[in-house]
Amino acid sequence: MNSPLYAIPGSTPAASTAPAAAAAPAAASDPTAGARSVAEVLAGSQVEAVLQELDDDLVGLKPVKARIRDIAALLVIDKLRLNLGLVSQAPSLHMCFSGNPGTGKTTVAMRMAQILHRLGYVRKGHLVSVTRDDLVGQYIGHTAPKTKEVLKRAMGGVLFIDEAYYLYRPENERDYGQEAIEILLQVMENQRDDLVVILAGYKDRMDTFFQSNPGMSSRIAHHLDFPDYAVPELQQIAGQMLAQQNYRFGDGAAEAFERYLQLRLQQPHFANARSVRNALDRARLRQASRLFADRERHLTADDLSTIAAPDILASRLFQA
Ligand SMILES: Nc1ncnc2c1ncn2[C@@H]1O[C@H](COP(=O)(O)OP(=O)(O)OP(=O)(O)O)[C@@H](O)[C@H]1O
Ligand SMILES: [Mg+2]
Repeated sequence: MNSPLYAIPGSTPAASTAPAAAAAPAAASDPTAGARSVAEVLAGSQVEAVLQELDDDLVGLKPVKARIRDIAALLVIDKLRLNLGLVSQAPSLHMCFSGNPGTGKTTVAMRMAQILHRLGYVRKGHLVSVTRDDLVGQYIGHTAPKTKEVLKRAMGGVLFIDEAYYLYRPENERDYGQEAIEILLQVMENQRDDLVVILAGYKDRMDTFFQSNPGMSSRIAHHLDFPDYAVPELQQIAGQMLAQQNYRFGDGAAEAFERYLQLRLQQPHFANARSVRNALDRARLRQASRLFADRERHLTADDLSTIAAPDILASRLFQA
């Protein structure tokens, strides 16, 4: 009753800040009480390890990696704010990953789920990857249960919707996709503290989709563009994929593969790292046939793990 409703800052001991607190560090008004360092949060979450793995395991993707570091920084600072009672509401973490096929969207989404889990933003950190057919039914009344079932599976993790624009078919007036979108929108708003939605697809089609679906657009906080890989990056990805399976390029094979990439890039349906993986699978097949044909030879570890130049050069691309 006798305490003033509004205290003039600095006029009463209770309102005093830094100087008084410095004199009595243990006091409740101590601004450093509950303060933690970024290092402490990072150590507790091991998120630094995931970020480092992301850097080491994935070739290129510089802008994507930088954005993910930014998002991780935001979350760590958010944790520190929460600790000091400064937080208002859970940050919106829904994202859009746009880029051509094989640029690493699914791979990065899985890493993202781990990061969000380690920082405590999702309970489980798993990734549920779906397309339109998993969400939208064929008949009236089928869509809502389908979408809700997927959402239930994804809760506590990341829901990754590949080629998300297929949910919206303006040419079809009574398309059930709209129903799925509406359910998604609701959950993205109301359960954003336990589910992160990542929409993925070609950039231009995603842009068109957002233009026609402003509700969806406004709920996506982070847009990450996945650039196409340049030939040296594709070459490095190939080396990494081979090493993971205990293979290596023999004499002249890396050069042959570079020529292969130059040709393949000009073909339709080039799918970046996915095309590299497919090409290497075919090269392994040819290597196996080559070794298989030579019945008497004792095959050394070196023989068995070498992709030779002819294994690459036998591709149809060189026949034309
Ligand atoms: N930067 C990279 N470094 C190493 N490997 C990569 C990289 N990007 C993609 N890959 C590999 O290429 C393959 C395709 O990647 P991913 O499935 O993540 O691409 P995507 O963008 O989801 O493709 P899609 O649109 O075809 O689904 C995977 O085997 C993945 O491990
Ligand atoms: Mg994918």
